[in-house]
Amino acid sequence: MKIVQHRPIFVFVCIIAFVVVFVQVKYTNDAKEKRIRIESEELLKDTKEVLTHQHLDNIVVTGASVLQAENFKHNSKTSFSNDVNNEFKNRPIITLFTSFKTDLAMDPEKELVYNNTLYNWQTLRPHAQLIYFTMETSAVDKVILFDWNIHPLIPPSENGIPIIKDMYLQANKIYITSWYGYFNGDILLTDDILETLEYVSNVSDTFRNASILITGRRINVLNVTSEEVRSKNGIKESASSRGSLYEIDAEDYFITNIFFPWSKIPEFVIGRAGYDNWIVGHARCDLATIVIDATETITAVHQTTSKGGNKEGHAHGNTKYNFELIQRLRLPKRFLQGLTTCAEWRTFRTLKTGRIELVRRDDLHKNCKCTK
Ligand SMILES: *[C@@H]1O[C@H](CO)[C@@H](O)[C@H](O)[C@H]1NC(C)=O
Ligand SMILES: *[C@@H]1O[C@H](CO)[C@@H](O)[C@H](O)[C@H]1NC(C)=O
Ligand SMILES: *[C@@H]1O[C@H](CO)[C@@H](O)[C@H](O)[C@H]1NC(C)=O
Ligand SMILES: *[C@@H]1O[C@H](CO)[C@@H](O)[C@H](O)[C@H]1NC(C)=O
Repeated sequence: MKIVQHRPIFVFVCIIAFVVVFVQVKYTNDAKEKRIRIESEELLKDTKEVLTHQHLDNIVVTGASVLQAENFKHNSKTSFSNDVNNEFKNRPIITLFTSFKTDLAMDPEKELVYNNTLYNWQTLRPHAQLIYFTMETSAVDKVILFDWNIHPLIPPSENGIPIIKDMYLQANKIYITSWYGYFNGDILLTDDILETLEYVSNVSDTFRNASILITGRRINVLNVTSEEVRSKNGIKESASSRGSLYEIDAEDYFITNIFFPWSKIPEFVIGRAGYDNWIVGHARCDLATIVIDATETITAVHQTTSKGGNKEGHAHGNTKYNFELIQRLRLPKRFLQGLTTCAEWRTFRTLKTGRIELVRRDDLHKNCKCTK
């Protein structure tokens, strides 16, 4: 009798307990993401100082010292060819690819951004092959494509958002180049990416068939105009006059060589937070990959629009897709280890000659340490 009387109270208590648990779980997740951001901001302050010091005493790395410093397994079947420099002038060195939604009529700002990107990357021809991956057949007549190879992305992900590893695996089949790079569709480039890759190709023979991943920070520039994109040095000038170097935990591009094991990477989707740092951290900690921070030699201009464009990875549907995938697969935590400042190597220009060099960072922040 008593139990029957107390049943509503019992049910009520159960509901309260459930709500408390739910809120706690949700809060913990949000707090975790927030903590990562705060920690990386602190790290940013530290590393700014470190970077300044490093500038003062640049240790130039030659092929021989790289060889001494590194002792990588060479069990891969393919050999990294040494002849890039000789034929560099006429040969594509990188396959660049991206993907974005093409129902652009909705947003004139975005239309201009993508228009700029499609035009800009073409200026890297013939040194770059360009692939535009799409799942919409109608895309063909909506975008202006001069030298772009439009390719269907097969298979599309469950939710219709492109899976990053599939783009790399397909690009590997479409073109043979030394480097493969996915860049977000709002990133503008200058020819310093070619110079950087030529340099790394020149020395990468000394890395002995190792998997290499190059990433870096972007420079946010507000309202890049199509005139700037189309004029000589316009992009560089927009970056130096009103650009600002963005955070160390935002990685908008990944350039890998053929040895990078994309087939082993989980099915992360682009345009959603969480995967960029994880991939870089995983590469460093679990895949014996040489990770290079090219922030100082690759100008990657992010076209920032009045709508913001900084936290876009948090603004669409399926926001937590990649975080949830990491949780579901019980993958190790690799966010902090994947900040650009955790890369063991970085490129820079020497003050004396202005030439690109590669240097090993021997003062990584303690948070970069790979834990189990
Ligand atoms: C896109 O670029 C083409 C040529 O590159 C130009 O004719 C067209 O007007 C541009 N569209 C927008 C919206 O800027
Ligand atoms: C790469 O090596 C070639 C041949 O040694 C040299 O001419 C070229 O300047 C090098 N490129 C870079 C960017 O260092
Ligand atoms: C790279 O791998 C190939 C094939 O396994 C091998 O013949 C070559 O010696 C390796 N190169 C280096 C520098 O280890
Ligand atoms: C950037 O462009 C937007 C829309 O085109 C405009 O409203 C805004 O004032 C511009 N901002 C600057 C700083 O030019």
